[in-house]
Amino acid sequence: MKRTRICPLLGIDYPILQGGMLWLATAELAAAVSNAGGLGVISPYAGMEQSGDPTENLRDQIIKARALTECPFGVNIPLDLESSGLLIDVALRQKVRIVVTAAGSPDTYTAVLHDAGITVLHVVSTVAQARFSESSGVDCVIAEGYEAAGRVGVDEVPLFSLVPQIADAVGIPIIAAGGIADARGVVAAFALGAEGVQLGTRFIAAEENMAHPRYKEAIVQARDTDTVVTSRVVRPRRNLKTAFTEQLMTLDKTGAAAQEIVDVLGYRSARQSQLEGDLAAGEASCGASAGLINDIVPAATIIKRLIEGYEEVVKELTREDK
Ligand SMILES: Cc1cc2nc3c(=O)[nH]c(=O)nc-3n(C[C@H](O)[C@H](O)[C@H](O)COP(=O)(O)O)c2cc1C
Repeated sequence: MKRTRICPLLGIDYPILQGGMLWLATAELAAAVSNAGGLGVISPYAGMEQSGDPTENLRDQIIKARALTECPFGVNIPLDLESSGLLIDVALRQKVRIVVTAAGSPDTYTAVLHDAGITVLHVVSTVAQARFSESSGVDCVIAEGYEAAGRVGVDEVPLFSLVPQIADAVGIPIIAAGGIADARGVVAAFALGAEGVQLGTRFIAAEENMAHPRYKEAIVQARDTDTVVTSRVVRPRRNLKTAFTEQLMTLDKTGAAAQEIVDVLGYRSARQSQLEGDLAAGEASCGASAGLINDIVPAATIIKRLIEGYEEVVKELTREDK
C-alpha cells in the first residue's frame, strides 16, 4: 500500500486508522490495530461502567494500551463531552503522542497539545471546517462523509464529494472516513485525494472489539438499507434501524422539540445497546458500509485484507487488456 505523508507523521506502516468509538474503542482494540501496522485509537468511555468516571477510564486505557503495544496509538476526544477539558488534561499528563479531536472547534486545544509535542488530527465534515482546522494548526484533517456511523455532519455531504473538495482547499494531509470497509474504498479514497483512511463500523465486527455479540451480529446481517439518520434538530446521527431508531424517527416526523429528543437519547444509553446488547435501549451506531461486512475477524485480518486487497484493486485498474 502507498506510503503517504500520514505514515511518517503518525509513525505507522500503513495509513489506516481505527476510528474513535466512544464506548467501544478500548486499549485491546487499539493495540491490535497498532500492532498490525495501522493506528489504533482509544476512546474515553471505552468499556466504562454506566456510572464510571471518563477521566479515570481514559487514564487506565492509555496505561493498558502501553502494556499491549510498543507502536503508536491515538486518543480520541470529542470536544462536546462535558469532561473534554479534563480529558485533554489526561492526554497531556499521560504524554500521549497523538490526539484526535472531534465535535468542536480545533482552535480550542490544538496549540496547547502542540506545545506538549502532540500530533493533532481533527474530524471535519465540510470544506470550511477543513480550512479552519488548517488555520488552527492541526496536522491533518479527518474528512468524514455522511455515510459514516454515529454523529454525522449537519450539511450531509457524502465522502465522494467531500474529499476532493477538501483536497483542493487545504495543503495538510486528509484522512477519509465514512463508508469505507474494504480495499475498494481505500483505493477510491486515495483517488479522491486522501492520504489515509479511517474505519469505524468495520472495526465493530473485530474480534477484539468488546461490543456485545448481538450488536456485532446485527452489523454482519445488515444490508445497504439498514441504517438511518435521525435527530437532525439535535445533531444528526447514523444508527442501525432498530426499535430505538423507530422511536427517534417518530419524534422527527412529529416535529418533537430538541429537548424531548435529547431526553430519549439519554446521556449514556448507547452503553446499553452497544455493550449490553439491548439494541432497543440506545443508539447502535452503524455506517452505511455495514452491508459490506460479512464476518467477525481479528483486527489484524481486517488490516491485512485492506493491504492485500489494495494491491489487487490497483493491479486490476491498471491492467492493459481491460
Ligand atoms: C460505535 C461508534 C462510535 C463512534 N464514536 C465516535 C466518537 O466518540 N468520536 C469520533 O470522533 N468518532 C466516533 N465515531 C466515528 C468513527 O470514528 C469513524 O469516523 C466512522 O465510524 C467512520 O465511518 P464508518 O463507520 O462508515 O467506517 C464512532 C463510530 C462508531 C461506529
